[in-house]
Amino acid sequence: MATTIDLEKQLTETMKSIARRSDLKAYVERTPSLYHLLQRAAARYVTGDDRAAGLEAGRMLVNKGYAISLEYIGENTEDIRSCEAAALEMEQLIQALIELGIAARVSFDLSHIGLSIDDAFAFKQLAALAEQTRQTGIELFISMEESAKTEAILAIYERAAALYPNIGITLQAQLHSTTQHLNALQADSRRLRLVKGAYQEPEQLAISRSDALNQRYLHLLEQAFDRGHRVSIATHDERIVDEAIARGWALKPGVEFEMLYGIRPDLSSKLKRAGYPVRIYLTYGHEWYLYLCHRIAEYPPNLYQAVIDIAADRPVDSVMDYE
Ligand code: FDA
Repeated sequence: MATTIDLEKQLTETMKSIARRSDLKAYVERTPSLYHLLQRAAARYVTGDDRAAGLEAGRMLVNKGYAISLEYIGENTEDIRSCEAAALEMEQLIQALIELGIAARVSFDLSHIGLSIDDAFAFKQLAALAEQTRQTGIELFISMEESAKTEAILAIYERAAALYPNIGITLQAQLHSTTQHLNALQADSRRLRLVKGAYQEPEQLAISRSDALNQRYLHLLEQAFDRGHRVSIATHDERIVDEAIARGWALKPGVEFEMLYGIRPDLSSKLKRAGYPVRIYLTYGHEWYLYLCHRIAEYPPNLYQAVIDIAADRPVDSVMDYE
């Protein structure tokens, strides 16, 4: 019989495969009863369907002393109109943030606004958002997607960041190529977010969750500091968090911890109480299917949490978990 550890490993792999199944995603989206049921599980990590939900949760966290990132969720958008609609939604999000006076970070996948069509279109859409945010204090932040897109994403980032200093980039510690990519980036105190990586990648390209990955994460952090980057330490791994604090990195200028909304709010609260800068990454929108799969894949007990959240009397409101 399989042990609990074996089952958790299998569940992680299965959830990562399910995340890529566009047929299953389409089935969920066209089956209202299933959509609404699973949405109750997603509510722990996704603030709601619309911008108002994201802004309201964000405003509450800002009032509690956190910095925020906001993402209108979506990726791999394959028609021009939907890419334009996504960019318009982000434009309206930015406008709302300006009106509210919140210097948030707006995060997104380039494949949501045009990378799946072509690089030039993605760049054009990104540049329009960058023009809008110029001198507003709002940062634009590019997420990192599957390894097949890494080179294209970095090329668009480099071109745009040379023109607009308020654009940041995410790098994945799990990829073997990241050390080299980090060395090749222009530093100039640009903002970098380091994550472990959410995508299932072949062994020749990436290492899986392990002590070796944690060691690599710490080496990359050191490398990023040496190169003069401002760094978001984006992990919920307490061993990395503790090590960053022990090495005196957490109070360096420009360094912050960044964690996903609904995940380890106790840890975010503890770090904030201790005086470290903490940013919470909030999401909103209808496209939460892949996001939910990833959150379960990276921590299999979240499958139990999902069942509990679906059956609960009231929908989950994760904002309340932050002190
Ligand atoms: P790891 O997965 O090893 O988990 C360490 C510990 O953290 C677990 O043992 C558990 O205690 C806790 N934990 C982790 N995930 C949890 C969960 N879902 N629920 C409850 N507890 C959990 N990825 C990517 O490929 N591209 C990107 O652009 C981004 N962007 C991004 C932004 C931000 C702000 C964050 C925090 C993360 C991302 N990610 C991402 C996701 C990232 O790659 C990674 O999958 C998750 O952060 C989980 O990895 P950890 O570093 O937390 O470590």
